[in-house]
Amino acid sequence: METIDQVGRAYGFQTILPPIAERTSLFQRSLGSSTDVVSKEMYSFVDQGGDHISLRPEFTAGIARAYIEHGMLNLPQPVKLMTSGPCFRHERPQAGRFRQFWQFDFETVGDAQPMVDAELIVLSVAIYHSLGIEVVVQINSIGTPQSREKYKDVLVDYYKTKKRQLCMDCQKRLTKNPLRLLDCKVPTCQQIAQEAPQIVDYLDEESREHFVQVLEYLDESEITYALNPRLVRGLDYYTRTVFELWATDDETGQSALLAGGRYDGLIEFLGGRSTPACGFALGLDRTVAKLQAIHADLPLDVVDVFVSQLGESARKKALRLFEDLRRAGFAVSQQFTKNGLKPQLAMAAKLQAKFVVILGQKEIIDRTVIIRDMENGAQEIVDARKIAKELERRLERAANSPRPTSLPEEILETPPEDLPPDEALVVEDLREEVSEESES
Ligand code: HAM
Repeated sequence: METIDQVGRAYGFQTILPPIAERTSLFQRSLGSSTDVVSKEMYSFVDQGGDHISLRPEFTAGIARAYIEHGMLNLPQPVKLMTSGPCFRHERPQAGRFRQFWQFDFETVGDAQPMVDAELIVLSVAIYHSLGIEVVVQINSIGTPQSREKYKDVLVDYYKTKKRQLCMDCQKRLTKNPLRLLDCKVPTCQQIAQEAPQIVDYLDEESREHFVQVLEYLDESEITYALNPRLVRGLDYYTRTVFELWATDDETGQSALLAGGRYDGLIEFLGGRSTPACGFALGLDRTVAKLQAIHADLPLDVVDVFVSQLGESARKKALRLFEDLRRAGFAVSQQFTKNGLKPQLAMAAKLQAKFVVILGQKEIIDRTVIIRDMENGAQEIVDARKIAKELERRLERAANSPRPTSLPEEILETPPEDLPPDEALVVEDLREEVSEESES
């Protein structure tokens, strides 16, 4: 999430937090009543006030509504918005398809230039590049609604002759949503789609020019893309550019990692002024599954200091010390529910903490703490009041030797070796004092 957020911010996107539920009519109008998402998959209900509400199946409709309602037209254009959160679709559960899933969504509203489409595609590829996942951009243009009407007639004529070979869903699509015939995943339908007339041959002049320019920008940015004449997308609001990102080993797009396109007519259709827009949504569940599948080492949260304690009174002080260090801006972690020092050090090693602060009974009496350097095991007793300064100094020094971003397998699997004898002594000392304390 952080990686995606960082790339988004670098490209000038600002966060928006649309509500999780909206009026059902917003989705019906934006996505289209005959789309699978609206006709079969929405979680809809009537609320106490009698309003028809649906859990969001995606973000674009809600962001378009917010753009209109909050007068974002008056902001410098384009307005670049990003958001993330759960979305809901009542789909048949299967690998990579969930009823509650997480999207990361990016929308550029208020600019019709092909540069915008290209920038979004470059950004989407940059995200996967940062995550270490290899992707191919699948791209097509579906023109304007007018040019599409012409194409739909030709398409229906072609499919009518093959009607009996089509799956049941496609037979319905023939009258309800003919463009979707092209991206049916049933093998016989896919074969028929191979020979179907292609939409690019029916594009109006402006859409064709727009598409060529988008591709030129991508060429210039050295983005690998595949022209995919069967990519039509499942939502009605799209115009011109549509694209998906597929993992390089996903040949059919069964599990697209990310999808989007231009939707120049949506905001006007919802009652706003004519406002071009383009965007995409990344499927986080599928992206994380891909990361796990390719054994990419997930970047860990940085932990500079791990606070450990021995004994009840040390634990109380340690809680306070942890909070003070956190407020002072250190990346701190702890596991105060563990009792022994060894499991706490094992946890610190797992988290790749640079330093462990050890607090025992003796230290509380002496007003000191032990700072353990996790790289070389060296320990030093320092004045507790100077701990922030001492840690800062050590961290500065450690910053010159960067830590690995991934965790070596052995550390994950095995706790650290027994502590060296001199250190064991310190720990024993602490243990004895703690037990003495509890006996008295
Ligand atoms: P979408 O293709 O419906 O497009 O969804 C985008 C991505 O969300 C998919 O490529 C997939 O990774 C993920 N996704 C969708 N449904 C599921 C599911 N049931 N389980 C797991 N992951 C899923 C949209 O939603 C558009 N609003 C994208 C967009 C933004 N177009 C313009 N702006």
